[in-house]
Amino acid sequence: MSDSVQTQSVAAVIILAAGGGTRMKSNRSKLLHEVGGRSMLDWAVRAAEGVRPERLMVVVGHLADQVTPHLQEIAPEAATATQAEQRGTGHAVECGLAALGEITGEVVVTYGDVPLLAADTLLAMVGEHRAAGNAITVLTARVPDPTGYGRILRDADDTVAGIVEHKDADETQRGIDEINSGIYVFDAAVLRAGLARLEGDNAQGELYLTDVLGIARGDGDRVGAYRTDDLWQTEGVNDRVQLARMNAELNRRILEGHMRAGVTVLDPATTWVSDDVSLGTDVTLHPGTTLAGATTVGDGAEIGPDTRLRDTAVGAGATVLRTEANLATIGPRAVVGPFSYLRPGAELGEGAKVGAFVEVKASTLGPGAKAPHLSYLGDATIGAGANIGAGTIVANYDGVAKYPTVVGEASFVGSGSVLVAPVDIADGSYIAAGSTVTDGVEPGQLAVARGRQRNVDGWVARRRAGTRTEAAADRARAAGTPHPGVERDTDGRDES
Ligand code: UD1
Ligand code: MG
Repeated sequence: MSDSVQTQSVAAVIILAAGGGTRMKSNRSKLLHEVGGRSMLDWAVRAAEGVRPERLMVVVGHLADQVTPHLQEIAPEAATATQAEQRGTGHAVECGLAALGEITGEVVVTYGDVPLLAADTLLAMVGEHRAAGNAITVLTARVPDPTGYGRILRDADDTVAGIVEHKDADETQRGIDEINSGIYVFDAAVLRAGLARLEGDNAQGELYLTDVLGIARGDGDRVGAYRTDDLWQTEGVNDRVQLARMNAELNRRILEGHMRAGVTVLDPATTWVSDDVSLGTDVTLHPGTTLAGATTVGDGAEIGPDTRLRDTAVGAGATVLRTEANLATIGPRAVVGPFSYLRPGAELGEGAKVGAFVEVKASTLGPGAKAPHLSYLGDATIGAGANIGAGTIVANYDGVAKYPTVVGEASFVGSGSVLVAPVDIADGSYIAAGSTVTDGVEPGQLAVARGRQRNVDGWVARRRAGTRTEAAADRARAAGTPHPGVERDTDGRDES
């Protein structure tokens, strides 16, 4: 492919997207169903944009009220033409061409439901079109089972003579295994002239775009084919079985790319990585990992098993296992999981740790800070090296509004504490286990905010006489020894 082919844009791409998609059995437009985390229409638009069209026109009809707003989101520069009644592919292109107005040059036609079609293939087809000096070039493929497709008719000298639809084909024509993908480059004037002469005198009573090729040939225009070996690029999605196949194939391609670039994928069958994800060298993905959105993973990080990350940044050397994270940032060498839940705005510094059954929302953990077990941290800023004891809850919500909490650098929050926001716990301070903290704590202080322990002598003998507990108490008193290794501090530890 010459440079000029890649740099010279085409006049327009028309994406056909008006069809019913009834076999999806869905209330959603077929084009909004996702492959590799992106709608089918999004894939079609991306491929189209690869040939840098001056204008991008999408022909909408069925469920246009869903398709048009989605298109505006993914491609604000695209325009739509409405095909109110679906009278065939020729009629659909007519609608698109009419909306483009007085256009000259090359018009590429594609479908909205062929998600694996790549921009490179369109570029190569346009390149062939220019090199051969064609008026029309059609993208074709040779397939094992051509049933249902239009067949490419070639003359004895191999030039393309036209296309015959499966339903209109005779036995000999049905034996042809070269199929029409439905993707073409047209000279705008040839296309316009051909469309004007279409008649619906065929098995389906439709205006066939495919008939334009025969008409142009009859007029002496050059019609050619560009054949691809990658059959997936010509395959449309009509039902959810095909949708699953397409998802699996795209995922396989994405994973293969990452593996070739230095990522270990232990079980490709249960690992799903969407197209926008970027993975560093020596990343390991364990079984059951899903990486969605614009997730990034730094060199040497280990993800999974059983982990789903969406729009999350993972630093180099981090470990993230059995975790759900959305819009979170996990610093280098941080350790997350198992069973952790990072919600939007969770930011973990270098070497920080979030452990089992810990939920973090809109909170920052400084470098080396740890919340290892059973905690909720919301709207909190945890300083570097601070330790959040097991079962600590940040009570950030009073039923009306949410408030911030700060735990300073190298501070230590004892297990089972409740930090009632807003509260500011200074650097270098301690919270006694089981405290409910409502007031600020100064540097170097120990805050104790709980009832003091009271031991009632003889209670078991009086209130639980005859139980196995009383028997154990009697034995222990007779032996007279504390449990080995446990210091029995009867002074109380509160030091207050
Ligand atoms: C069409 C081709 C066939 C080709 C096949 C490849 C024609 C006549 N036939 O057949 O040669 O092998 O695609 O998949 O072109 N659409 C509209 N409006 C309409 C009709 C269709 O927008 O009135 C859109 C559909 O949404 C779809 C595309 O055009 O994206 C193809 O339509 P479809 O009905 O699937 O065409 P086929 O009969 O499969
Ligand atoms: Mg079809």
